[in-house]
Amino acid sequence: MKTLREYIKEADQKGVAVGHFNISNLEGLHAIYQAARKLNVPITIGLSEGEEGFVGREEAAALVRALRDKDNYPIFLNADHHHSFEAVKQCIDAGFDAVIFDGTELSFEDNVKITKECVDYARKVTKETGRDVLVEGELGFIGSGSVIRDTIPEGAGIKTKPEDAKKFVEMTGVDMLAPSVGSIHGIVRHGEPHTDAKLITEIRKSAGVPLVLHGGSGLRDEDFSNAIKAGISTVHINTEIRVAYVEGLKKSLAEKPDEVTPYKVTQPAQDAVQKVVSKRLKLFSGIK
Ligand code: G3H
Ligand code: ZN
Repeated sequence: MKTLREYIKEADQKGVAVGHFNISNLEGLHAIYQAARKLNVPITIGLSEGEEGFVGREEAAALVRALRDKDNYPIFLNADHHHSFEAVKQCIDAGFDAVIFDGTELSFEDNVKITKECVDYARKVTKETGRDVLVEGELGFIGSGSVIRDTIPEGAGIKTKPEDAKKFVEMTGVDMLAPSVGSIHGIVRHGEPHTDAKLITEIRKSAGVPLVLHGGSGLRDEDFSNAIKAGISTVHINTEIRVAYVEGLKKSLAEKPDEVTPYKVTQPAQDAVQKVVSKRLKLFSGIK
């Protein structure tokens, strides 16, 4: 099986993107995995620090590894938006395939310093164990949290400059970069975030590494396809599937108030998540 690095490189060359979806529970994992398997595309599961606290770091690593080994299927695990070297290190030690140090609320210098520390640690682990661990860095604040918000949060959405992206990648040695290119984390009720394809092309060229689009929820289909064509090779989605899960669950509880078997109560929520993931994966992979 190819490594995640190889799948991302392939996506980058083919002008498609690998889907990255966050989970909060086992239903989410199954829903995302089933959607990916039906389309036969590689998939990355994300765990933010909050999600990791709920699911369990080692537990998530074991679950993803179990699926990958059982079915010989390219499913990978990413530590999404971790805010300290220690948090990143714990995920690398637990066997995650990729990690993201999120220093977007720090100064450029501090962001570089800690991101570099994460890269050095990942390289050390690779040297000692042969495990390939991808490190993603972030440059430009796009809001934090996969929530429904009224407006674009203060300080978010200032776009990343291509020259800063170049400097950041050179100084840290990251494998992938998440720039701020117009999307915002969460679903914004008032205000329509759009991706800036021209800027993505410029950043891809100057950064020289695969780019990651965060804050995918709420974007229009053409925002994704233009961004992918311009140089995005991984797309993150979370809020949309959180909404699908909760809506599915509410409907299930309302329609069958006497149902007490948990896996039957949550099945419609799981189905709703699978539907959203499948729709997004088709778009990211260019499947009609
Ligand atoms: O890292 C997670 C993603 O960037 C999720 O963003 O909740 O706006 O889809 P989203
Ligand atoms: Zn994100």
